[in-house]
Amino acid sequence: MSSLLRPFRWITSVSLAGLVLLAAVLAVASWRVSIAGPLPSDDPAQITGGDTEEGARTYQSRCTGCHSLDANRIGPRHRGVYGRVAGSLPDFDYSSALTQSDIVWNDETLNAWLINPEDLIPGQAMGFRLNDAQARADVIAYLRRESGK
Ligand code: HEC
Repeated sequence: MSSLLRPFRWITSVSLAGLVLLAAVLAVASWRVSIAGPLPSDDPAQITGGDTEEGARTYQSRCTGCHSLDANRIGPRHRGVYGRVAGSLPDFDYSSALTQSDIVWNDETLNAWLINPEDLIPGQAMGFRLNDAQARADVIAYLRRESGK
């Protein structure tokens, strides 16, 4: 009887080993996918080369609720912001976090600010993010032009 079963046992152990191997391969594959994560949206190539006309539209629709180019509102005025030290207008009431930072506004710092201001300068007071990488590049190009840079 046992000699009759032997080939079946062999088949069973081979397919069990196969299953274990398959499970291991799948586990490793899904682990690799999860550590690779989503592609970064803040590709430096996208920060520069923004479209100033698109940027003007984005600025109008997304920023002017709080900002304008030439008057302080809920946020500080923006003409000249590109190349300016953060929190440096004498006539705007900034958070102390922004006044104390020594960041200069350029492509990289503006991009990081618009991705998540709180990550860049903890304790700051701008409760707004611009999630679209192209929109950020466009609005940065616009601010740069309006700052004469
Ligand atoms: C909900 C209101 C609000 C919106 C919308 C908003 N901001 Fe702001 N922003 C602020 C406030 C308030 C500050 C001052 C932050 C502080 O003092 O910490 C600020 C500060 C800034 C600064 C720093 C300026 C300086 O003088 O250092 C920049 C740059 C900026 N905002 C860009 C933008 C851009 C670009 C947009 C649109 C894409 C935008 N903000 C939308 C409220 C806003």
